[in-house]
Amino acid sequence: MEGCKLSKGVIPVAGFGTRLLPATKAQPKEMLPLVDKPAIQYVVEEATSSGIESLLLITGRGKRAIEDYFDYSIELEEELESQDKKELLHLVRQIGNMAQIFYVRQKLQRGLGDAIYCSREFVNGSPFAVLLADDIIEDEGPELKQMINLFERTDEMMLAVHPVPPESVSQWGVIKGEKIGEGLFQVTDLVEKPAPEEAPSNLAIVGRYILKPTIFPVLANTPPGKGGEIQLTDALRTLVKEERILAWQIRGNYFGVGDKLGYLKANIALALKRKELSSQLRDFLQEILSTTEEKRNHEEGD
Ligand code: UTP
Repeated sequence: MEGCKLSKGVIPVAGFGTRLLPATKAQPKEMLPLVDKPAIQYVVEEATSSGIESLLLITGRGKRAIEDYFDYSIELEEELESQDKKELLHLVRQIGNMAQIFYVRQKLQRGLGDAIYCSREFVNGSPFAVLLADDIIEDEGPELKQMINLFERTDEMMLAVHPVPPESVSQWGVIKGEKIGEGLFQVTDLVEKPAPEEAPSNLAIVGRYILKPTIFPVLANTPPGKGGEIQLTDALRTLVKEERILAWQIRGNYFGVGDKLGYLKANIALALKRKELSSQLRDFLQEILSTTEEKRNHEEGD
């Protein structure tokens, strides 16, 4: 069946970001830089280069910096113009024109499912993409674009997954699925943060979804689950009994930047890809690793 064109995207950014405290005490985690761009910009760029025309950001208290970032910076632009800093001026202007972005506030942080529920008026009966700014995927072509192409052919809801080590499944939402193609599964069940012995697979849900408005009445009736939060995974678990949901195994490099180790790894990996930084950073990493190794050997020899 031919699906309809998908042009709306939702990015929930209302969470507290407790895993990155204290850095997130007074600033949104989505504004923390990955090399030189805030994490949220990577995700907005993925959305726009996937054909998303309008985006809704679900914000909350303490997230104003995100709105300012995607707004014009008139004084800064005037200053750059007067100094004839053309490249920087272009860079700054481009951010203000990146996408048509709307904002709505989630007044109480009751979970990802509740945040998505706040998008129902914006979505207004259309299918829509959801992108989580904690999840950065680096690929030749944007991962979301590939999901949208598939959705436009199948008209079926979809979520992205990637394999994780079995011992770490309890940090993820996990699917049970039947393989129906190369890297494609039909979801039969979903579990949020299962104990390793209860996990139906090691295919963990990554923050890219294609949803239909049928999710909203289900979200409205989904009680708080793990962590006392209204979980999107729980709503999808109910919905999968009525509608087909596909799981798309991502091909790109995945970085979970919502915790300290993932955040550091992403910064290093992304910086190593940058021409102007890679060779000096590589030298530095080699140096620091061999010094640490020497120190460790020395301590063990004592
Ligand atoms: P997380 O589970 O990462 O929660 O949310 P968090 O609060 O952002 O971070 P930690 O776990 O405390 O460190 C997943 C996504 O859902 C959004 C977050 O902004 C993040 O993009 N979210 C979560 C909301 O928008 N509202 C909520 O009530 C909860």
